[in-house]
Amino acid sequence: MPPIIQAQNLGKTYRSGKLEVPALRNVNFSVERGEFVAIVGPSGSGKSTLFYLLGGLTQATHGSIKIDGVDFAQLSDSERTRFRRSHIGFIFQRFNLLPTLSALGNIELAYDISGLKAPMDRHLLDHLAEMLNIKGRLEHRPNELSGGEQQRVAIARALITRPSIVLADEPTGNLDTKNSDAVLAMLRQSS
Ligand SMILES: Nc1ncnc2c1ncn2[C@@H]1O[C@H](COP(=O)(O)OP(=O)(O)OP(=O)(O)O)[C@@H](O)[C@H]1O
Ligand SMILES: [Mg+2]
Repeated sequence: MPPIIQAQNLGKTYRSGKLEVPALRNVNFSVERGEFVAIVGPSGSGKSTLFYLLGGLTQATHGSIKIDGVDFAQLSDSERTRFRRSHIGFIFQRFNLLPTLSALGNIELAYDISGLKAPMDRHLLDHLAEMLNIKGRLEHRPNELSGGEQQRVAIARALITRPSIVLADEPTGNLDTKNSDAVLAMLRQSS
């Protein structure tokens, strides 16, 4: 079986007008199924850039990314979107929850657009809410939640589709030790 993620000679240079910011250069690595990998580096070293590239949210300047042997660049935009929604769970550095929906609404929407045929697994939802300590907060909108609670809702949203890949950008950045441990345990358990 091919690795679940394979990056070859990956490079990204941001361009705005004449300005060029080389964010990543010649990145090579692969991740096998079930592996739990952390990418560490100082602020500005390109971690978020790599996250966007691996999720197909932005295009590489050089090199290729294969997910489960499929080259992202070979897919059409709509194929890439479909693939992303059903196979990849994103936990963004800034959560990206929709402000007009409740926590539960955010989680349900992610499930609805995944294209999965089976109805959302309510047991999994209960389990995630319990583990992430957000059970009593599901009816609230993001602006009524603390930063850490928003982050944990974003994590539940990423895991509800049982994606084959979970990409998390600083998922414990806003959490205290107890909740960080719970989140890491949750991510490990789902890998
Ligand atoms: N849209 C953009 N246009 C231009 N430069 C960008 C853009 N996004 C990021 N950069 C630059 O690319 C480099 C890598 O940024 P990135 O956000 O990937 O770093 P990071 O490792 O995630 O940092 P942090 O730990 O602070 O989140 C930085 O120098 C940043 O200023
Ligand atoms: Mg970042």
